[in-house]
Amino acid sequence: MSKITVTSSTETKVAEGDGSLLEVSYDNDLPIPFGCQSGKCGICAVKVVDGKLAEASRAEQAILEAFDCEAGVRLACQAHIAGDVALESINE
Ligand code: FES
Repeated sequence: MSKITVTSSTETKVAEGDGSLLEVSYDNDLPIPFGCQSGKCGICAVKVVDGKLAEASRAEQAILEAFDCEAGVRLACQAHIAGDVALESINE
């Protein structure tokens, strides 16, 4: 089991490999806004403030570069959990 914390007030425990970070967060009522769910809009961008996510795929990395995102920013609809992680939603 891994623990996902979004901002400092909401957290939940989830099993790894349950889908994208966005899917897991949505299933557990965690507050990450989203739009396209396919890595095109950037609305689901989150900043990893502690812990880690699975390594970004080449497709996600290309999208992050296209959005000129700073280090530590990931797309919840593309990222997958890899252990305990604390996140800050960028587009609240
Ligand atoms: S929901 Fe649009 S990029 Fe993730």
